[in-house]
Amino acid sequence: MLRVCVIGLGPIGTRHASIYKEDPLAELVGLCDVRRERADAVACRLGARPFCNVPEMLEALRPDVVSVATGGYEYGSDHYQPTVQALEAGCHVLCEKPISNEIAKAEEMVSRARERGLCFGVNLNHRFTPAARLAKQWQEEGRLGHLLFINMSMWIKNPAESSPYFQIKALHPHTVDIMRYYCGDVEAVQCFATKAPGRSIWSTAQFNMRFRNGVVGHLTGSYDIERGHPMERCEVAGVKGRFVLEDMFRELTLYPAGNLEKTVYSNPIFGGMRDFEDTFTNRIHRFLEQVTEGIAPDEIDGSGADGLAAQKVLAAAIESLETERVVGVR
Ligand SMILES: NC(=O)c1ccc[n+]([C@@H]2O[C@H](COP(=O)([O-])OP(=O)(O)OC[C@H]3O[C@@H](n4cnc5c(N)ncnc54)[C@H](O)[C@@H]3O)[C@@H](O)[C@H]2O)c1
Repeated sequence: MLRVCVIGLGPIGTRHASIYKEDPLAELVGLCDVRRERADAVACRLGARPFCNVPEMLEALRPDVVSVATGGYEYGSDHYQPTVQALEAGCHVLCEKPISNEIAKAEEMVSRARERGLCFGVNLNHRFTPAARLAKQWQEEGRLGHLLFINMSMWIKNPAESSPYFQIKALHPHTVDIMRYYCGDVEAVQCFATKAPGRSIWSTAQFNMRFRNGVVGHLTGSYDIERGHPMERCEVAGVKGRFVLEDMFRELTLYPAGNLEKTVYSNPIFGGMRDFEDTFTNRIHRFLEQVTEGIAPDEIDGSGADGLAAQKVLAAAIESLETERVVGVR
């Protein structure tokens, strides 16, 4: 069993902690939040040791795995320090998205993990569903043929006004990761955005992308729409077929080109995914499984490098929004 600590105990870190507590591959040993009462409250419920100082916890408990679920400015400024502290202490790290709100810091996080030979994952949880895997399998079996285009969309309500680019940087690590999962690296981006009534940030945006393999892609995202109806859709098409993945795990349909019979996978009632929280459960379990198996760090599914690549696409999109130009991803 891997000994696990969680850093940052807001709603998301608390969720991580509860999932580790239930996972047979993990033993939850430590919980840390600079707001001591948050660590105490979760410790009281789950039985691990509470701390309010990261180095103290790492020194006292020497965990194998650390989840970093801090947030901060643009939901990402507080990830760097505890991630580096945990890596320096020799721990494998699973960090929340966005990997960081600053590219230079994200690069350093990835290179520190690489130098130390440690596994570094990002919680790109939307790809960890049976339906998303099946779509990948169809693609790998050649059922789409030569890839042509991808259309992606995702919207939720998030009224926070912390930064003009909050929606782009904090929502779209997920969507860009799904796009990269099926279509590979993005080469160039163009972005338009708008502000919903009463908002001062770019709360809704559209992006055009060109992938390195020639695929063309489009993405729509918003922090302006209340939850309730379907919120995420991914459509990928090639010359031999097209799939549509609805809401990460709810339904996946393959439309073979030139064949009027389609194949539909529906999330099963028994043994299926219950809700969005299960994407966290699956993602965390996969990280634990890969660390337990001792896989090479560059084979981590949803890695730090994937998180960094997504953030670079978003940095190019922001530059495009500011300059009204197509921007190459560097
Ligand atoms: N993967 C997903 O689907 C998903 C969904 C929502 C949010 N998130 C991400 O989860 C993260 C956390 O979100 P939240 O809403 O729980 O945030 P939050 O601000 O409520 O909680 C973060 C906690 O981290 C603590 N913290 C910050 N720096 C610390 C440090 N150095 N040491 C110890 N504690 C520290 C803060 O005191 C706070 O209690 C964000 O990065 C967000 O982007 C991911």
